[in-house]
Amino acid sequence: MKLSRCLTILAALLPITLAAPTASGRRQDGATNDSSSRVLGDALSVEQLAVSFYDSSLALLSADDFRAAGYADGVRQGYEQVLESAKAHSDYLVGEITNLGHADAAVGCDYTFPVKTTEDFVNMSEKLQALAVSTYAGGRDRSQSDTYTTAFGKMLDDETRYASWISTAVKHEDSADTSFKSPLSSRQGFPDTVNGIVVYSQNECGTTTVTGFLGGLNN
Ligand SMILES: *[C@@H]1O[C@H](CO)[C@@H](O)[C@H](O)[C@H]1NC(C)=O
Ligand SMILES: *[C@@H]1O[C@H](CO)[C@@H](O)[C@H](O)[C@H]1NC(C)=O
Repeated sequence: MKLSRCLTILAALLPITLAAPTASGRRQDGATNDSSSRVLGDALSVEQLAVSFYDSSLALLSADDFRAAGYADGVRQGYEQVLESAKAHSDYLVGEITNLGHADAAVGCDYTFPVKTTEDFVNMSEKLQALAVSTYAGGRDRSQSDTYTTAFGKMLDDETRYASWISTAVKHEDSADTSFKSPLSSRQGFPDTVNGIVVYSQNECGTTTVTGFLGGLNN
């Protein structure tokens, strides 16, 4: 599996960029600014991972591949919507991080994923959505800004809807619902799904750090 440095690098950038002066934006006290930047940065790491994952996988897997693997025609289109949503979330987060004066921390990364078949993709998407749900639930709880608490709550609803869609409509893990329409409660179930998922990331010095997500696919 290719090691990816990005999640750790984003975290490492924040303390450095905190020292950079800037002239614009709503003023926040230093502690709130710092905390907001971290929470936004964590969410952005996951969204950048998601954009990269959905974009590269959908480029690889055609409508015929989905059909041949036995998925309904709407499934690939559903994933295109999930990709658009990840891009929109990512843009929002980049904008806010930039407004807080930390544009350097919003730089994206290159990822590669071990997706070979449609089923690999679907299974990984399920794990990625579980990670997104837990990230936004954590972000909403940690946020010290009302604006971001509300924004995280909305994005959490999106991620929960997609996670639910994947497990029901795509994977038929239960028969409840086949549309994006009825979100699970965000407190229902997901933290457990995240257990055992591992992200391999590597910092610039070449030290490998396990930060949580992906894994399990190759072993
Ligand atoms: C956040 O902190 C950075 C670095 O101290 C500062 O440049 C920026 O203006 C602050 N942003 C807000 C919105 O207060
Ligand atoms: C995908 O996940 C299902 C369980 O949800 C499992 O039975 C199946 O073997 C997995 N397929 C791949 C290719 O990992």
